[in-house]
Amino acid sequence: MTDSWLTPRGIFFSEGFALSSAIKELGADFIIESGTAYGGSAEMLAILCDTPMITIDTHAEYDSEEYTRNRLSKYEHVKMLNGDSWNLIPMILNKIKKNKIAIFIDGPKGGDAYKMMREILKNYSDRIVLIAVHDVKCDSKVASLYRKDFPDALFTDEQDNYFSPWREQIDQHMLKINKEKYGGATASSLDKDWGGGYLQKQYKETPLGFGMVLIEGPFV
Ligand SMILES: C[S@@+](CC[C@H](N)C(=O)[O-])C[C@H]1O[C@@H](n2cnc3c(N)ncnc32)[C@H](O)[C@@H]1O
Repeated sequence: MTDSWLTPRGIFFSEGFALSSAIKELGADFIIESGTAYGGSAEMLAILCDTPMITIDTHAEYDSEEYTRNRLSKYEHVKMLNGDSWNLIPMILNKIKKNKIAIFIDGPKGGDAYKMMREILKNYSDRIVLIAVHDVKCDSKVASLYRKDFPDALFTDEQDNYFSPWREQIDQHMLKINKEKYGGATASSLDKDWGGGYLQKQYKETPLGFGMVLIEGPFV
């Protein structure tokens, strides 16, 4: 994990840690990720969990497919699909015979991600053990929808919950390594040497991370 680095639009290390811990704790036997982009979160999950995973992206927002196929090719338990999750997630869920599935939505965003989460739960609730959605800040409008439906949902950017000391510790640790390796802050880039210090820049802007909501099943 300490060899991995933050690619453009990627989740924070503390967020990857929260997600992989929940996946392991709940004994998920399959992961579906919507929103691969440059493979930042997919690589964290690949390293931290042995669980088979399908990661989906249209690659329409970023020209990220070739880069990410290369990056993820060494992880045999990870399969990349090019397409729209609105179609592909139901297709996958209809096909696979797994019953403890973790879903991570990192695109679409906001209200559309909330709708996608509800749509999945409408038809497959008995087989989902975890749903996590990224870029949900705990004080945002959409967060109140999640809170209303799931009062026990965890928000990684809350100042004072049981995860916050861990968030602080993990991000500070990764930041320390990052400063030693790359020196100063840099803008994000696909080139590790140029973009290595992006974590430092991003941490200054959003010290609590981008925000992720984690909701534990069972949902029935
Ligand atoms: C913020 S980026 C994902 C970052 C990545 N998870 C990481 O940590 O490095 C969001 C991605 O979601 C993808 N996306 C948005 N809507 C989608 C959909 N309906 N189906 C598949 N991918 C989608 C976009 O193309 C974009 O690449």
